[in-house]
Order: sequence, then structure tokens, then C-alpha cells
Amino acid sequence: MNKCQQYMDCLVAWIDARFPMTKMWKEHLSEYYAPKNFNLWYFFGSLALLVLVNQILTGIWLTMFYKPDATLAFASVEYIMRDVEWGWLLRYMHSTGASAFFIVVYLHMFRGLLYGSYKEPRELLWLTGVVIFLCLMGEAFFGYLLPWGQMSYWGAQVIISLFGAIPVVGDELTTWLRGDYVVSDATLNRFFSFHVIAMPLVLCGLVLVHVLALHTVGSNNPDGVEIKKNKDEKGRPLDGIPFHPYYTVKDIFGVGVFLIFFSLVVFYLPEGGGYFLEDNNFIPADPLKTPPHIAPVWYFTPYYSILRAIPDKLLGVIAMGVSVGIFALLPWLDRSPVKSIRYKGILSRIALGLFVVSVLVLGYLGTKAPTPETTLLARIFSVIYFAFFLLMPVYTRMEKTRPVPTRVTMK
Ligand code: HEM
Repeated sequence: MNKCQQYMDCLVAWIDARFPMTKMWKEHLSEYYAPKNFNLWYFFGSLALLVLVNQILTGIWLTMFYKPDATLAFASVEYIMRDVEWGWLLRYMHSTGASAFFIVVYLHMFRGLLYGSYKEPRELLWLTGVVIFLCLMGEAFFGYLLPWGQMSYWGAQVIISLFGAIPVVGDELTTWLRGDYVVSDATLNRFFSFHVIAMPLVLCGLVLVHVLALHTVGSNNPDGVEIKKNKDEKGRPLDGIPFHPYYTVKDIFGVGVFLIFFSLVVFYLPEGGGYFLEDNNFIPADPLKTPPHIAPVWYFTPYYSILRAIPDKLLGVIAMGVSVGIFALLPWLDRSPVKSIRYKGILSRIALGLFVVSVLVLGYLGTKAPTPETTLLARIFSVIYFAFFLLMPVYTRMEKTRPVPTRVTMK
């Protein structure tokens, strides 16, 4: 053993006597056994972590130049884009990161639906995920007001005024949320505080809980087989491999591929065709001029469509809230004896397929101004959206499932 190695070992022993470093390294990486049949769908958890780090780092640097003041905010963003060195890159990485976050998290959630990762024993893991999702929506909503463009202003105005539909306390509540009778400097200040401090803190805490919950129950896999049920004489799962180095290397590959696509958008298509940065948001907020068509950013449009599909304002708001919250009930709605879609029956496959189509169609309709035809379509697809969840106890019990193998398969 050379001198350098001896010093390293001494340092590690010194730290271990004061902090469980080696123990944590083993528990969460080198001796955390993950199923050996992970596929492409298992990239998105680590990618979500990567995007979270990107948002926090670029956010810190943007905050150094941004001014949370209604008279200065818009100009300070332009200043970042034109005068701050590399400011344009910071901003585009942050704005593209916001959309990338939702793309990655939606694919991550879809994987959960595909392989029944919300089912026992992962209910709590799933619930922490749902809370993360809600916070992420809040974080994006608060952040969108900060550039103080027309869409920032009127988007916030529309969403906050939805609370006015709540009987009795509605009006008082909207004034309290805005901190004023209209969206104003006071609103911008509190949204800034939530966006840069409160929500990121909560999100980081929740992600820690999420990963700890995952490491308590162990990862699911495309077969939905519990690898802890088949162990060798040393207590290691026969179908498991150490997370480090096998999956760290796999995840690094995923990061490389992701960064190629991410860079393409940042450098060549930062506005994402008007979906990532909306055209109207390049106009400074004007409280006296409502834009002809107000639509939220693409990742909110499926729920916005559901809101608009229902003629009654209060019922619309409730339906929109339920459309997001209902994900929390999945562990109890799915009555199938098997986890993975691979072994579920035809009804579950059709239901999941229709659900995906409904999300895409509702998402598209939410970006367009409503007409009688699109409203009818939005109603039909809202029914399909909710049917996926509400009929789940019926179709998952009715259908014939295929036998699940005892060991994972490497298809
Ligand atoms: C900031 C957002 C999130 C981060 C950083 C994150 C991180 C992770 C990581 C690192 C894993 C392990 C790797 C993997 O299985 O892909 C994981 C697994 C998981 N996550 Fe998330 N997650 C996030 C959001 C969500 C959301 C919104 C949900 C669901 C509503 C969710 C549900 C799950 C489930 C069920 C698993 C276990 C999947 C399995 O073993 O098959 N996560 N998450």
C-alpha cells in the first residue's frame, strides 16, 4: 500500500468515527441491490435529480442579477439576456430546464403506471412522488410570474382568480393570496420568495424522503417481481446487482444522451417553438391590456383543458384539482393481482393507452382558444381521463392476467 493510499484510509477512518460515510455509501450505492433488468424507463429518476440540480444552480446565478420589483423585473431579465456575461445561457438553461423537468417527471410517472410501481409495498414512495409533483407545479407557477411579461401577469391573474370560485371565503382568499386587489408588486415579491426559497427547500427535502423510501422497499422492475424474495446464502438478492458501479455507469450514459437533447434545445431552439417560452411573455406586463388568448405553459394545459371543459366555475376548479390529486389514490384503485403491464390483461392495456391519448389531446386543446368543437372534444377526453382512474377497480379485477415468473426476465 503506498503512502497516499494510507493517508486516504486514515482520513476515511477518521470521518467514519464521526459520520457514517462508508456505511451510507454501502447502504445506498455499493451494496444497494437493484434488479438487474432495469430498462430505458429507469433513467428518468436520476435525470429528474440532474434537472433539479441544474435548476438550483442556474437559479442561484440568475438571482444574482434578477430584480424582484414590478418596475424592474422585466428589464432585469433583458439585462441578463443581453449584458450579463453568459447570462443568456443561464436563463435558457433555467427556462429549458423547467420544461425538461416536466418531460422527465411525466415519463418517470408513466413508468410507475406501466410497471405498477405504486402498488404494495411502494405506496408511500408513490405518495411522496405525488407531493413532489404538486410542489413542482407550485414551483413552476411561482417562477413563471418572475419575468413579469404579459403571460406571467395574466396567467397568475387567471389562476389566482380561480380561488374566487370557492363559496363564502373566495374573494377574501384571492386578495390574501395576491397581497393586493390585483396582481402587483406585492404578489411578485411573495412569488419570488416562494420560488427561490420555500419551494426549493421543500422539494429537496421531499426528494431525500423519496429516495430513502425507495431504498427501504427496494426498486420495482419491468416484471414487477420482488427481488427480495429470492436471496442467496449471504442474503443478497439473486436478481439484484449493486447500484454502484453498474447503475451509476448506466445512469451516466443516460445523462450523456439527455444532455445532447437538452443542449440542442438550449442552443438552437430555446423558445421551444413558443411552448417553452411563450411569445406574449416578451411583452412587458400591462395590467390594462389583456392578451387576446391566455394559456398556461404546456405542462399545465391538460388540467387547464379539464377546467375549461366544465361550464360551472366551481365544479371546473374542483375537477382540475381532482385531476391532479387522483394520482395519489392509484395504489388503492388498482386491484390487479399483478404489478407490471407485461402480465396485466388487455383491458389495462387499452385503459392506459386511452389515458395517454387523453392527456396528449387535452394538453393540445389547452394551448388553443376554445371553440364549441374543441370544448366538446375536451369534454369527451376529460371523461376518458377520469374513467382511467375511476373504472380501474373494475377493469383490473375483471380481466385475465398472465402468470408472473418467480425470477426477473431479461427480455
Ligand atoms: C423531483 C422529482 C423527482 C425525483 C428527483 C425523483 C427521483 C427518483 C429516483 C432517483 C428514483 C430511483 C431511480 C428510478 O427508479 O428511476 C425514483 C423512483 C421512483 N419514483 Fe421518483 N422522483 C421524482 C418524482 C416522482 C414523482 C412525481 C413520482 C410519482 C408521482 C415518483 C414516483 C417514483 C416511484 C414509484 C419510484 C420507484 C419506481 C420503481 O422502482 O419502479 N417520483 N425517483
